[in-house]
Amino acid sequence: MTYFKRTLAIFALFIISIHAIANEIDDRMDAMKAIGKSNKALSNISRGKADFDSQTVIQNAQLIAKYSGQSFTMLFPENSLSADSAAKAEIWQDWEKFNTLADELNTTANALSTDSTADNFNELYKRMSDTCSGCHRAFRAKK
Ligand code: HEC
Repeated sequence: MTYFKRTLAIFALFIISIHAIANEIDDRMDAMKAIGKSNKALSNISRGKADFDSQTVIQNAQLIAKYSGQSFTMLFPENSLSADSAAKAEIWQDWEKFNTLADELNTTANALSTDSTADNFNELYKRMSDTCSGCHRAFRAKK
């Protein structure tokens, strides 16, 4: 390969990898937005702004469960930071804790979808919300 071609190839790889990371950042922000939307429906019930409805709870808790755990952490390749992203570098310094919290979200959201009744909803919902805020406190920068 000539020097020029090699430089070009390296440059192309660089652009491709930047692009892949940019897509992952978009994907995880989209995932978090979808989680945020479902969470809103659940928090309305918890605050008494909406009545307990098991279908609403199941659908939204399942969506949150779907976007949590491994499907969430795979959207965080090492050091994928950008100006738009609120992700903190601590994610990769304490990758184990980040993964534990993502798994915990899966467990608490699944429990909410399978075990909720009008009586225990608030307790199960609080357990899930504590996981959201625990992870944000450690790993999301304030905008
Ligand atoms: C395992 C860690 C973790 C858990 C658990 C978690 N989040 Fe997040 N969340 C993040 C990180 C990191 C970001 C910033 C992502 C970025 O900007 O690249 C974020 C961003 C967000 C955003 C902003 C999305 C945007 O860009 O507009 C919302 C809304 C949100 N989270 C809601 C929730 C809710 C609701 C829960 C719980 C049901 C939750 N999150 C659980 C780590 C987590």
